[in-house]
Amino acid sequence: MIITSAEFVISAVKPSQYPPGLLPEIAFAGRSNVGKSSLINTLVNRKRLVKTSSTPGRTQLINFFEVNGQFSFVDLPGYGYAKVPLPIKKTWGPMIETYLSGRETLAGVVLILDIRRVPRQEEFDFIAWLKRFGIERILVLTKTDKLSTTRQRNQRGAIAAALGVDADRLILFSAQTRKGREQVWEAVADVVRRKMEG
Ligand code: GTP
Ligand code: MG
Repeated sequence: MIITSAEFVISAVKPSQYPPGLLPEIAFAGRSNVGKSSLINTLVNRKRLVKTSSTPGRTQLINFFEVNGQFSFVDLPGYGYAKVPLPIKKTWGPMIETYLSGRETLAGVVLILDIRRVPRQEEFDFIAWLKRFGIERILVLTKTDKLSTTRQRNQRGAIAAALGVDADRLILFSAQTRKGREQVWEAVADVVRRKMEG
């Protein structure tokens, strides 16, 4: 994908603050610190369009971006990080659920998982929830640069088995090496095409 423009639009917590839904939208979800913001930056070829941080739980709002005047990208706050203060935690679930269940232009969700970690209940719940709402899912395993090719293959198999999907549904990605960037874009374009076809 050739990127001609990528701009931050707005941060929101509730629907009245969302920008008008004029473009097909892709949301990026995953645990805190998994690499959601880094993945978006890699897709749009920018180092710092989206703030990244080694402190988990950095993204606490729903951040909207516009790419090529063609797509809307949404960086969702991460879930499942224990050290986040309880009041913040309590507003997260409802904030994300309200967004995902009500956003009419949403074409799909890119769920980002760390290749080194086999998913557990939180991921199962989240995926089941997306299915229930009929939301398309793109599954990405990130930080592949941290493992040898052999261990990448083993982890991909283990994660696929845990999720009950074929291993080839899991896109291997790294924000560091940019591996998998084109594949993620292809999956995004597919999901957007399906949405446009209604
Ligand atoms: P929150 O917004 O806090 O939920 O985090 P996030 O999921 O947006 O993660 P972010 O992109 O901020 O990355 C978290 C940390 O992981 C940063 O230190 C990144 O540099 C690092 N990181 C992200 N992707 C990769 C990757 O593919 N490889 C490696 N080695 N590090 C990565
Ligand atoms: Mg982030």
